[in-house]
Amino acid sequence: MELAVEARSLVKVYDGRIKALDGVDLKVEMGKVFALLGPNGAGKTTLMRILTTQLKPTSGEAFVFNFDVVHHGSEIRRIVSYIPQEMSVWTDISGYENLLIYAKIYGIDSGSREKAIEEVLRSMDMEGVKDNLVRTYSGGMVRRLEIACALLAKPKILFLDEPTIGLDPSARKAVWEKLTSFKKDFEATVFFNTHYMDEADLYSDEIAIINKGKLVKLGSSEELKHSVGGEVIVFGINGNDVGEDVLEAVRSSSLVKDVIFHNSELSVVVENAEIALPSIIDILKGKGVPAKKISMTKPTLDDVFLKYAGTRLDTIGRISEVTQVRRMIRRG
Ligand SMILES: Nc1ncnc2c1ncn2[C@@H]1O[C@H](COP(=O)(O)OP(=O)(O)O)[C@@H](O)[C@H]1O
Ligand SMILES: [Mg+2]
Repeated sequence: MELAVEARSLVKVYDGRIKALDGVDLKVEMGKVFALLGPNGAGKTTLMRILTTQLKPTSGEAFVFNFDVVHHGSEIRRIVSYIPQEMSVWTDISGYENLLIYAKIYGIDSGSREKAIEEVLRSMDMEGVKDNLVRTYSGGMVRRLEIACALLAKPKILFLDEPTIGLDPSARKAVWEKLTSFKKDFEATVFFNTHYMDEADLYSDEIAIINKGKLVKLGSSEELKHSVGGEVIVFGINGNDVGEDVLEAVRSSSLVKDVIFHNSELSVVVENAEIALPSIIDILKGKGVPAKKISMTKPTLDDVFLKYAGTRLDTIGRISEVTQVRRMIRRG
């Protein structure tokens, strides 16, 4: 499988003292949707700016489709599109006029411009609003216009820095539906930064968790969650005492890792709750202990982050800050 992105021992130090990237090793396969997940200040934007040749690394190497970011910048710029975290369209002109400017920047000749613009407008579902001033767009529409502009270049890989920051859930969903279909239609690779766990969880094939300039864990969402250890099934057992023989019987199942009885609740730690549940119910029935209530908890990416980074993802301040900036820009 061809690699879309590769980084080896990548380090970036700002001003000789701020270590934004601290030895990053990374491989992203072509055709994947890849999420770089981490809190504010983790180094996400720095890594993306190095990969898109806007910044030079302090040491280490990085490649995009086997082109070296330091020595083959112009080749890379021909095959990537980059959508920054900040707004990248003009608000005092229409969506269509923005696309026209980008079409010229990308060197699309005048004969094919119309068709290219129509195509990206359609794929972002924006034909109906193309002649309205961007100032009147919602946050989600602005983001979709930015993506449409980026798609004009027909990138092999699309880099998005915090693509849905500050958007409400339905606008986020709309942006992702469009991105997903773009990826399918163009067989492109998508590389995005985010601090939204659910976004990484729902839309990526592969996730790298970054904290303080280091990649702390890499894998699919399922792999990451499984790596936390196990899942917990809680049986509510009202009014019944649970004897040691019951605990022993449950514990003896090969699917069970641990059993705790506390406050009328029997908590059973297992590898996979869906698989283990029926056999534990059977054991309890056999011992004459009926469960009144059953609940299962699976680890979330936040638990993964907690395990490997030692802290929870905390970004509330940042979101409101960026939302405010985007609102301000929209007002003109
Ligand atoms: N141009 C810069 N000059 C100095 N420090 C910077 C610069 N850009 C980012 N940093 C610092 O580098 C670290 C990583 O920043 P950044 O890559 O923007 O993280 P993220 O995108 O994950 O929020 C932070 O400590 C940030 O303050
Ligand atoms: Mg950033």
